[in-house]
Formats: sequence, structure tokens, C-alpha cells
Amino acid sequence: MPNTEPGFRLRRARPRVAIVGATGAVGRELLGILAERDFPVEELRLLASPRSAGRVLTFRDHDIGVEVLGEQSFAGVDLALFSAGSGTARDWAPIAVRHGAVVIDNSSAFRMSPGVPLVVPEINAAEIAHHEGIIANPNCAAIIAITPLWPIHRRNRIRRLILSTYQAASGGGAAAMDELVAATGAHLAGAPFTPRVLPHPYAFNLFSHDTKIDPATGYNDEETKVINETRKIFGDAEIRVGVTCIRVPVLRAHAVAATLECERPIDPEEARALIAAAPGCRLVDDPAANHFPMPLEATGADDILVGRIRRDLSDPSGHSLSLFVAGDQLRKGAALNAVQIAERLLP
Ligand SMILES: NC(=O)c1ccc[n+]([C@@H]2O[C@H](COP(=O)([O-])OP(=O)(O)OC[C@H]3O[C@@H](n4cnc5c(N)ncnc54)[C@H](OP(=O)(O)O)[C@@H]3O)[C@@H](O)[C@H]2O)c1
Repeated sequence: MPNTEPGFRLRRARPRVAIVGATGAVGRELLGILAERDFPVEELRLLASPRSAGRVLTFRDHDIGVEVLGEQSFAGVDLALFSAGSGTARDWAPIAVRHGAVVIDNSSAFRMSPGVPLVVPEINAAEIAHHEGIIANPNCAAIIAITPLWPIHRRNRIRRLILSTYQAASGGGAAAMDELVAATGAHLAGAPFTPRVLPHPYAFNLFSHDTKIDPATGYNDEETKVINETRKIFGDAEIRVGVTCIRVPVLRAHAVAATLECERPIDPEEARALIAAAPGCRLVDDPAANHFPMPLEATGADDILVGRIRRDLSDPSGHSLSLFVAGDQLRKGAALNAVQIAERLLP
């Protein structure tokens, strides 16, 4: 039976959990994070497409067979973690909710829908209380970019934000990661390689994010998501955001250069102290050693690394800062954020 009370919690303290897209890059990370964080699981159902029929994945040393997503997949399920793309979410998340489950969806299908909270727990966990069955996990570049900016925004409103992203292959899923490895191997061997997943050669190259460009704005879909989602998560429809999203040949952690302009003057030391005290963030900011956030050091970490905090010299008014962040978007940008939301739904 569907639950109709806004903000309803999971029916059981040890929920029955389904992962839709369990075989993918985010899905496999979800398996690891549920185990690592000791999330109580009565039963785990692993769901994917017919391509994965017969595959077996491991959860807490137990082998679990992957099932093909179908009409009966959500019977008895309390929590459905979706990481299978927008189309699958649109088709199946409402069915999971009708079976009484809470859905946490990693795709963009519902992020901007009214009645669907878009949540980064470090920023707006209170929004979870308003869900009507579906909670959306934000875009990975948005989560990595704005989680460290929230403590600044809360203290001294950011009125304008310019972001440049350096996005890893993992953002394109398991197949894009495999393509980066294969393309790099072929390049080093001097062998020809034809990209199949991404639109351009990826080894020793970078290119503009491969999503559709809106002719009206010149922004691609990824950039538009970052703008809209920042406004929704911050609860600030007026914040002015400009973004350039770039794919770089890094396996699995995004980096972002940010320049922000606050309403009042802001000092780099003040920002450093705010970020150092913020949950989910860790300062890596050592100019003497030229040691700043790097994707390799962010890989596998829960915290978003933040550094290069300095005045923006192009703004002599003292209202602006620049900084650089790196975060593992398969973890904080997707699976970890989803499990953090799920933890807040336990009865
Ligand atoms: N990668 C990231 O960093 C990231 C971050 C935030 C959000 N997301 C979002 O999370 C979702 C998954 O991304 P990913 O990177 O994990 O992609 P992925 O590695 O390509 O995995 C996709 C998963 O979805 C399953 N799937 C695809 N079509 C399906 C269908 N019709 N029915 C059932 N299962 C289906 C796949 O199953 P098969 O193996 O059987 O094909 C696979 O398990 C996407 O919506 C993505 O936008 C990704």
C-alpha cells in the first residue's frame, strides 16, 4: 500500500532494500557504502536490465543474483535506491512508491519536480520531511561544487558564482570508465582506437561535456542542471550562476574551480575557518608544499577536498574569493549522498 503522509519514514528499522541499476558504477558503489556504513538491511534485491540476467554481485560476503527489473520487483520493498538513468526512473519509481517504498533517485528525472526534495544532507536535510515518496539526489558536479560553499553562503550570501568543472570519466558510468582505460592503453601502444561511449578521443585529451546544448543559452544540459539545482538546494532562486563543464581524462573524481562574490566583504581566512568546520569537507590547502585538492586524493574519500582559498584579485571590493575543490562523485556525488539520505529515513 502506498504511504500518503508527507515525509514518511521507512516502514521497518531493518528495511528491505532494492538497488535499481545495481550493476552500474553508482550501483556497485551503493553496495559498498551500505556495507561500510552498516546500514541495516533485512533483504537486498539487486535489479538491472535483461543484459545483466544471471550476474552475481557480492554484499557483505554474500552472493546475490541480479534480477531483471519487472512488475514484481518492488513487492515488500521499503527503500528503493535508483541508479539506472532518467527513463528507468520515470517508468519505475512511481511503481516502487505505489508498493509503499521510499525512492531515492540518482537520475535527473525528478530533481526539479515540485514535491520532490533535492537533498544534500549537509545543506538541506530538513527538506526530506516534505517528500511524497521520491527524493532526488542532485547532479554530481553540483554536489561536489556547492557543498563546501554552503557554510559561506549561509553566513554571507553568495550573490554570484562562476564554476569551471573538470569532470571524471566515472560521471559517464562504468562504460565511460572502461573506455578511458582502453583508449589510454591503445594510445600508449600506438594502436588505433574508435570511441564508442564518448563523442571524442578521451586519452590525453579533454572536451566540453557531452550533453545537448540549448541553442537559446549556449549552455549544455549538465551546466543547466548545475545552475538550476544550486538554486533549488540553496533555496535561493536569485543566486546568479555561470558554469563551464569539461570532461577530463581522470578516472573517478571531479574537480571544480569556483569564484564567488558575496553580499558583504569576505576574508579568505574566514572562509577557510567556515569550510574547516563544515561537515563533509576537508581543507587541503598548503601553498608552501603546493599541495591542493587532487582527484587522486579525493578518490575513495567521503569528504570533499577544498583548497586554494584566496582573494579574487579581479574584484578589488573584497567581496570575492576563488577556491578549488575535488570530490569522489561516485561516493559523495552519488552513492554516499543517497545512503546519507536513507539513514535519515530510518524510523
Ligand atoms: N556516475 C556518476 O558519477 C553519477 C553521479 C550522479 C548520478 N548519476 C546517475 O546515476 C545513474 C546511473 O549512473 P551510472 O554512472 O551508475 O551508470 P552505468 O554505470 O551506466 O549503470 C547503469 C545501470 O542502470 C541499469 N539499467 C540501464 N537501463 C536499465 C533498464 N531499462 N532497466 C533496468 N536497469 C537498467 C544498468 O543495468 P545493466 O548493467 O544491466 O545494463 C546499470 O546497472 C544515472 O542516472 C546517472 O545520471 C551518476
